[in-house]
Amino acid sequence: MTVRSIKTDIFFVGAIDWDRRIFDELIPLPEGTSYNAYLIKGSEKTALIDSVDPVKQNELLKNLKELGIEKLDYIITNHSEQDHSGAIPKLLEVYPMAMAVTNEKCKSFEMDLLDIPEDKFIVIKDNEILSLGNKTLRFLLTPWVHWPETMVTYLEEDKILFSCDFFGSHLATSDMYANKDPKVIESAKRYVAEIMMPFRTMVIKNIEKVAQFEIKMIAPSHGPIYDHPEKIIEAYRDWTSDHVKREVVIPFVSMHDSTRIMVDYLVDKLIKKGFVVKPFNLPVTDIGELAMSLVDASTIIIGSPMVLSGAHPAAVYATFLANALRPKTKFVSIVGSYGWGGKMIDQLSGLISNLKVEVIEPVLAKGLPREEDFRRLDVLIESLEEKHKPL
Ligand code: FEO
Repeated sequence: MTVRSIKTDIFFVGAIDWDRRIFDELIPLPEGTSYNAYLIKGSEKTALIDSVDPVKQNELLKNLKELGIEKLDYIITNHSEQDHSGAIPKLLEVYPMAMAVTNEKCKSFEMDLLDIPEDKFIVIKDNEILSLGNKTLRFLLTPWVHWPETMVTYLEEDKILFSCDFFGSHLATSDMYANKDPKVIESAKRYVAEIMMPFRTMVIKNIEKVAQFEIKMIAPSHGPIYDHPEKIIEAYRDWTSDHVKREVVIPFVSMHDSTRIMVDYLVDKLIKKGFVVKPFNLPVTDIGELAMSLVDASTIIIGSPMVLSGAHPAAVYATFLANALRPKTKFVSIVGSYGWGGKMIDQLSGLISNLKVEVIEPVLAKGLPREEDFRRLDVLIESLEEKHKPL
C-alpha cells in the first residue's frame, strides 16, 4: 500500500485488504476492508495511530520504512481488537523505544489478547492530552463504539478525529476520501448495523461527545477518510435515533412454497398499502444486507415452515441475529406453515427478549395457505397499518 500524505506531517500508512470477505468469521465483507493507520510527525515526537491486522503488518512496516521512520515514540491504540492492535507486538520489536498509549481498560485487554508487557504502556485518562511538540493529541474515551474500551484521538491543531471503528466502513477503495466514492455512506450504514447497532444508546452519547469539538476531518481505521465530516455525523445521528421508517423486513425461508406464498401475499399487499417492504430469502441472503435493513425498519415479520417441532434453522439464526443486533424495531410478527404441529411461535418469540417490540398476532397455515389464512394475513396488515398511524 502506498504511503499517502493527508496534511503536513500526517500520513496514511495502513493497508487495504481487497480480498477479505468475512470478519470475525461472522460478518460478510462484500467490498473488502482496510486497516487504516496514521503516522504523525510532531516537532519533538512521532506517533502512530492504530496499527493493522497482523496479516498486513509487513505492509505497515514497509510504509514506515518508506517514510524513513527510524524512531517511533508512541503507538496510540484506540481499540484492542486485533484488526487495529494486532501488529503492535511486531512494532514494539522493530521500534523497542516506542510506548503504547491507551486507556486502562484497553491496556488490560491488550495484555490479555496480545501478551504485551505492562511496562510498555502509557495509560491515559479521558480528555488527557499528549504533546508531540507542535502537535497535540487529545484522547476521548468513547466506550462501546465497538468494545467497552474504545477511545478516539483528536489532533487539536489540525482538527482531525482519529476515530478507529467509530464512523468506519468496510470498504476497500483506492479513494482516500469518502466524498469521491458513492458507496461509502452505504458501507458505513452496513457497518453501523453490524458493529454499532447493539450499543446504540452509547453510540448516541459518543456522537455528541466528539461533536463538541470542531472537526475538519474524520480519519477512521476502516474505509475512506471523511474530509466533509458533517454528512457522516448526521447519518449516524439518524441511524442511531429512535425514529423508525415505515419499512417491513421479512426474513423468510420456505421448503415447499407454503410459507413463500404467504410472504408473497404480504409483500404485495404491504406495497399496495405504501410500506417499504424488504423480503430476504434466508438461504440466499447476504446476512449483512439483512442487518442493514434493520437499522431503519419499524417492523420485522419472520417467515418459516415448521421443521421437526420448531422453526427452520435459517429462521432461528436470523431471529437470533436480529435479537443480538438490538435494532430499534417496534413490531414483530411471524408467519409460516406447518404439517402436524410444533412450537415455532413459542420458540421464535423466546428468541427476541432483547427487542422492545410489540408482537402482532402470528399467522400459521396448516399446509398450503387457504382463504381463511389470507384473511388472517389481511388482519395482520390492518393491524400494522393501525399501529403505524401514530408514527
Ligand atoms: Fe475494526 Fe472492532 O475492530
